[in-house]
Amino acid sequence: MAERLQKIIAQAGIASRRAAEGLILAGRVTVDGKVIMELGGKYESSQRICVDGKPLTLAEEKVYFLLNKPKGYLSTAKDERGRRTVLDLLPEVKQRVYPLGRLDNNTEGLLLISNDGQLMNGLLHPRYKVNKTYVARVAPVPAENALDKLRQGIRLEDGLTAPAVVRLLDTVEDEAKVEITIHEGRNRQVRRMFAAIGCDVRALKRIRFAKLNLAGVKRGHYRPLTDAEVAELYHIAGIEQA
Ligand code: URA
Repeated sequence: MAERLQKIIAQAGIASRRAAEGLILAGRVTVDGKVIMELGGKYESSQRICVDGKPLTLAEEKVYFLLNKPKGYLSTAKDERGRRTVLDLLPEVKQRVYPLGRLDNNTEGLLLISNDGQLMNGLLHPRYKVNKTYVARVAPVPAENALDKLRQGIRLEDGLTAPAVVRLLDTVEDEAKVEITIHEGRNRQVRRMFAAIGCDVRALKRIRFAKLNLAGVKRGHYRPLTDAEVAELYHIAGIEQA
C-alpha cells in the first residue's frame, strides 16, 4: 500500500514522523535514487528508500536500552558540530537507534534508547503522563513554601506546570538535594521550575522513568530492557505490542 514517505520512515524506527518530515525537507531522503523534498507524495515501502544514503531496513529488529547518561553528551543521534552524542556510548549497537526525548547536555541519568519509533512516540505523548524523577542539587536552600509552589504548579514562560511531587532530601551549607517528579517534558523544565523559585540548579540527574531506575547501570554504561520492561512500556503508551 502506498504511504506517505514520512510514515514509512517513522515505521522503520529512524525518527518520529515530524522528524522524518525534517529529513525529507532537508533533502536527506531518496526514493529509487531520486531526492524527494515534498511531503505529500505516496510511495511503496518496497521502493528503495534511503536516508543519508543508507537504505531503510523495514524489518530491523527492535532494540531497547537503558543508558546512564553522563554529563557532556548530547541527547541527539547526530551533531553537525561533531560533539559527543549519547550514541557514542553504545558503539556495539548496530541498529539505527535514537534517544527517547532529551536530557540537557549537562544533565545525567536515565535515558531510553531504541529504534522503536511507535513506542517512543507513544511514550512522549503528553496524554500518557509518564512520571520522570530527578534529583537536583540546588542553591540556595529552598524554603518549604517555595517547594509548595512547585507542588501546586508554577507559572513558566510557556504556561503553568502540572503539580510536581517534591521532596527535600538533604541540605549541606547553602545547597539542597531535592527529588522532583514531573510527567511533562518541556525543554529544561526542572531547571526553569527551580529558577522560578529563585534557585540555581547546580547538578541534575534523572533517576527514574516510569518504573525503570538506574540500579546496576554505572554512569556511561547501558543495559538492554527485559521483555517484561518493554511490555510495561507498551502498556503505559497504550499501544498493542506487535
Ligand atoms: N529538566 C531539565 O531542566 N533538564 C533536563 O535535562 C531534564 C529535565
